[in-house]
Amino acid sequence: MERMIRKLKIRDWDMAMQLAWDTFLVYEAPEYSKEGVKNFHDFVKGEELRNMFSLGDYMAWGSFDENDVIGGVLGIRKHWHISLLFVESSLHHQGIATRLLRNAFAQAKSEGVRELTVNSSPYAVGFYHRIGFKDLDHERLTDGIRYTPMSIELF
Ligand SMILES: CC(C)(COP(=O)(O)OP(=O)(O)OC[C@H]1O[C@@H](n2cnc3c(N)ncnc32)[C@H](O)[C@@H]1OP(=O)(O)O)[C@@H](O)C(=O)NCCC(=O)NCCS
Repeated sequence: MERMIRKLKIRDWDMAMQLAWDTFLVYEAPEYSKEGVKNFHDFVKGEELRNMFSLGDYMAWGSFDENDVIGGVLGIRKHWHISLLFVESSLHHQGIATRLLRNAFAQAKSEGVRELTVNSSPYAVGFYHRIGFKDLDHERLTDGIRYTPMSIELF
């Protein structure tokens, strides 16, 4: 059965951030310092992001199965910067991240937004290139987090 993509509701938040954290631990934490892992934990599990989301200042989409269990999450902060994209390990390579991004691109385009940015994890660099993102710089290391800044033009 095709999974459904929809905007997250506040009731989905804890499940979505748990998915982000669990997936981060497998694919990203091994590349980061202790400080970087703690910073990410505080980011997804803290109150600040949840409050931003509940106030409408943070956009998030999820991929849900027929029982409304989340399998992928995409989070975008102001000015159309992707700050979270995680798909559960057992669901990789089924097009879920691509579909999540397509939903965000459609909304961005409808608002006349020309460009989205992301700081890609080392693991996801090939994925973002395949989608059409271009590197803005070489890999950087900030607060214990390794990332490659990228952007994609929508028009
Ligand atoms: C990166 C990630 C979000 C991709 O999710 P996904 O749902 O498996 O991606 P898709 O199925 O839409 O992938 C589409 C295509 O991108 C490419 N691709 C996917 N993951 C890739 C990877 N890790 N490296 C290189 N190319 C990749 C493949 O060509 C894939 O097509 P294929 O499966 O037919 O070969 C997922 O692997 C993930 O959650 N990774 C861990 C967390 C992470 O690094 N997130 C990014 C934070 S910035």
